Amino acid sequence: MKNNIVLFKPKFRINETLKEISNILRTGWTGIGNKTITIENQWNKFTGLKNSLFVNSATAGLHISVEVLKTFYKWKNNTEIITTPISFVSTSHCILYSGLKPVFCDIDITGTLDPKKITKLINKKTKAIIFVGLGGSYGNLDKILKICKKYKLKLILDAAHMAGAYHNGKHVGYESDIAVFSFQAVKNLPTADSGMVSFKNKNLESIARKLSWCGIDKDTFTREKKYKSSQAWEYDVPFLGQKYNGNSLMATVALVALKYLKIDNIKRKNIAKIYFAKLKDNKKITIVPHSKGSSRHLFSILVKNRNNIIKRLKEKNINPGVHYKSILDFSYYKKKNYIKKSKDMKISKRFSEEILSLPMHLYLTKKDINKICNTINNET
Ligand SMILES: Cc1ncc(COP(=O)(O)O)c(C=O)c1O
Repeated sequence: MKNNIVLFKPKFRINETLKEISNILRTGWTGIGNKTITIENQWNKFTGLKNSLFVNSATAGLHISVEVLKTFYKWKNNTEIITTPISFVSTSHCILYSGLKPVFCDIDITGTLDPKKITKLINKKTKAIIFVGLGGSYGNLDKILKICKKYKLKLILDAAHMAGAYHNGKHVGYESDIAVFSFQAVKNLPTADSGMVSFKNKNLESIARKLSWCGIDKDTFTREKKYKSSQAWEYDVPFLGQKYNGNSLMATVALVALKYLKIDNIKRKNIAKIYFAKLKDNKKITIVPHSKGSSRHLFSILVKNRNNIIKRLKEKNINPGVHYKSILDFSYYKKKNYIKKSKDMKISKRFSEEILSLPMHLYLTKKDINKICNTINNET
């Protein structure tokens, strides 16, 4: 539609990507191979993280993260993992996929887990926290890290929004046991669907790699490299794994996108600055604060009459989004009564009812941002 201001729009370097894709198609090897290994190495180089595993989505990466910790530390099925209700459902689904128990904790005004409320939820069964860097911001992660240390909890960082985000001068993920990044189509590092999981512990990465390929102990690429050996075909299956590996086509798209991540995130930051300048004096809204090194996947506000604002924006062909409605309010979770088990959810409830994501992508112009902000300022 003409003059439509969309919420997200990935910026693909089309010619460069197509050239690389045709090269990989010519080789005839599109599965796990040189390219998937190269993106893992390049990601390590870019972020300074270690032991990265390329997967087919962050959802798969989150499931593998929980599964590998469960396997390695022999967690029982009554193990509890604390997380936030203000996220995409994969954040808590992954705990349930592994047969463990999600325990929902409230957020603070940064939109991320509230450290003051977490300690009340910790008991002998608690083994981990899944922290979500909402919109690319790390909120009070430093305090959460102290809690993890004190209570010996593992930290999974759901860094789906955080490709190219920095915390204490380092790329995020250095502080967590496992960090899971999404390279889904509208994320800061866009492919179509893929993701990366970075592990502090090499042993966990080694098991996770098997779990990501049906539990098989050697992938075909590794076997092919030993093709001269008559036993090259042989493998064992030590785990009940999933088919979660990333492939070489997605890796190729990711390798091109990675080259532009830094400059793209600077542009996102500049867009956020313009939004901030134009909206900061509006007393009817609250701008969700972001940490210094945020990757600026989102620019969000809290607004009381959200549906009315959405309607007004849509009338002007502007498409905002909601990130997120509380997971506790989805029928699957309602049936399981998590709401009753989750007390003191004041801020999550407010976010669920009032949060609004404004368009955030690299094709936005100053004129677009003016139009969006003027509509919000006039209609609130
Ligand atoms: C916070 C969060 N976690 C996990 C995911 C899942 O990512 P993927 O689409 O790569 O599976 C998303 C996707 O939107 C997300 O926003």
